[in-house]
Amino acid sequence: MVSSTAALLLGAVLLVAQLQPVPSRPAAAAAPGAEPGQPELSRRAATVQGDGRDGAPPNGSAQQLPQTIIIGVRKGGTRALLEMLSLHPDVAAAENEVHFFDWEEHYSQGLGWYRGQMPFSSPQQLTVEKTPAYFTSPKVPERVHSMNPGIRLLLILRDPSERVLSDYTQVFYNHVQKRKPYPSIEEFLVRDGRLNVGYKALNRSLYHVHLHNWLRFFPLRRIHIVDGDRLIRDPFPEIQKVERFLKLSPQINASNFYFNKTKGFYCLRDSGRDRCLHESKGRAHPRVDPRLLSKLHEYFHEPNKKFFELVGRTFDWH
Ligand code: A3P
Repeated sequence: MVSSTAALLLGAVLLVAQLQPVPSRPAAAAAPGAEPGQPELSRRAATVQGDGRDGAPPNGSAQQLPQTIIIGVRKGGTRALLEMLSLHPDVAAAENEVHFFDWEEHYSQGLGWYRGQMPFSSPQQLTVEKTPAYFTSPKVPERVHSMNPGIRLLLILRDPSERVLSDYTQVFYNHVQKRKPYPSIEEFLVRDGRLNVGYKALNRSLYHVHLHNWLRFFPLRRIHIVDGDRLIRDPFPEIQKVERFLKLSPQINASNFYFNKTKGFYCLRDSGRDRCLHESKGRAHPRVDPRLLSKLHEYFHEPNKKFFELVGRTFDWH
């Protein structure tokens, strides 16, 4: 009892000490009652076939293997992308992260199991799932290719340094929820007075390394890269590009998005219903010493250049 109270107190102290709002970005307001880590906007996936009454899927609908997958990157804005895409009537999105291609206990159950995780959809709908861990898992590209070499892949990326801070923040909060202490970000970023390049979150932001694995199996034209920083600032144009890439009719409108000042992010408006993403999306990041931050930016300079060359496009990253 005493130790759990102490852990809770420690978590709260750490939280206050570290997680001050990043000056360039407004802090998010908490959405009471929402479950951390749970999808907050998706439709409920149907689990039985039926005639459309009592919540059962309507006749003619079936579970289909995804024709498109959001492969990552972790903390890139994958949930926002999935929810925004789900505004389209011809998109059926899997509610949870499926982890089929990266988790052996799922992959070993075969494509039948994978299909069973998908929502019921009508024949004209595209099925989409998102599992951000796919992007950085070396065995996944070959597995996706063997399922469907013609699949369309969506990859949402954001400034690699910002992604590192977001990654840290997510793990930090996971610990706080479990009432466990968690070291400060400096303790991960610095080793022996230098940038700790062994920190896993840094590796996940080496986009050119991971994309290279995918390009061994898929041509670049099969991978649409969504600019996650732009999706935050102005989602509609980014979503229009996704509609075009997926050859969907243009049905999502600017009026489906509105800026919520309290959350500091765009929220969604669908059939008169306003919905923001879960409070775990759009959290304040820890304040990092500016000298350490510039070391981080410096570290990503070359990898970013390599990435830009690989995709023939530049991004507005530090
Ligand atoms: P932060 O919480 O660090 O700001 P993912 O869904 O892949 O875990 O990505 C989470 C990130 O999505 C958030 O990271 C946030 O910046 C970003 N995001 C993009 N659009 C958003 C939106 N409309 N509402 C909330 N978060 C959004």
